[in-house]
Amino acid sequence: MTVAAADVVAVNGLRKRYGRVQALDGVCLEVHRGEIFGLLGQNGAGKTTLVKILLGMVAPTAGEATLLGCPAGTPAARRAVGYLPEDHRLPEYHTAATLLDVYGGLQGLDRATRRRRAAELLDLLGLGRAGGLRVRGYSKGMKQRLGLAQALLHRPDVLFLDEPTDGVDPVGRKQIRDLLLAERARGVTIFINSHLLGEVEQLCDRVALLRQGRVVRAGRVADLAGWKGTWLVAFDRPPLAADPWDAGRLDPPDRDGRQRFHPDGLWGVDADAALERFLAEARHRGLSLRHLERERGTLEDVYLEFATPSMVTT
Ligand SMILES: Nc1ncnc2c1ncn2[C@@H]1O[C@H](COP(=O)(O)OP(=O)(O)O)[C@@H](O)[C@H]1O
Ligand SMILES: [Mg+2]
Repeated sequence: MTVAAADVVAVNGLRKRYGRVQALDGVCLEVHRGEIFGLLGQNGAGKTTLVKILLGMVAPTAGEATLLGCPAGTPAARRAVGYLPEDHRLPEYHTAATLLDVYGGLQGLDRATRRRRAAELLDLLGLGRAGGLRVRGYSKGMKQRLGLAQALLHRPDVLFLDEPTDGVDPVGRKQIRDLLLAERARGVTIFINSHLLGEVEQLCDRVALLRQGRVVRAGRVADLAGWKGTWLVAFDRPPLAADPWDAGRLDPPDRDGRQRFHPDGLWGVDADAALERFLAEARHRGLSLRHLERERGTLEDVYLEFATPSMVTT
């Protein structure tokens, strides 16, 4: 199925109520073709509910949701989707190879194609040698990677991954990250639900922060996690921290000899002018600059601004 120019996912005024719990409370967001989009929020924020609505597994209470230009749940759109559910249970008596063979069959792949594709994915995900072992003996991380192989088998246009790296060790996380970046390079659109912010920061082009069923912030990672107001500087010879002219404005050097410079309010001038003056003074003292970097905040900083218990009972 080919994807039209329109957004891959478009959600408008989406609400979902489970009894007394308002899981989604008027969510609006869109996911563009070919991007990695992260939906972030703590447990109970509504991430899984949103994905289940998009895939037609849960009916919304109100609002609109489209996937590939079709109303959520349309079979034609679903055929172009790969899905890694949260807390999925893979049948334990299968080996990775027989499991992927069954799923590939369900996805309509012929025997030769699914064998080739399964071997390729198991290899890419570092499961090549475990291919003949029963799933029963797999670690959580191995099960996650096998679940991802299942989602990718039929070369979907859109991938939905619900907490893909939860319980996966650093090597496995890197394999998953590399694989997802390769999929994006092929033009696949990727929608990730996660509460692991560091992961998302490394992977996603855009994110939305979901809290109590509402999007509280959305945008490009670089724009959300903006400048902290400080600079990291390093000179050819350390340290400057003890120097009286910069007292209190320069932190001690880190492992790499970088020091944090705090320009705000210094010398009664604005931050840029303070930096200029600081660098001029350093030059005047015969120091040469080796490193200069605006210090960015992290998604975690942004997230923590909003983090409160997200269970809503009304
Ligand atoms: N089937 C369900 N029945 C009742 N409440 C549910 C159901 N599924 C989810 N919820 C509730 O909806 C809220 C959002 O859940 P969920 O979408 O799973 O959030 P997340 O994936 O962000 O952790 C939570 O308060 C959760 O307990
Ligand atoms: Mg969830």
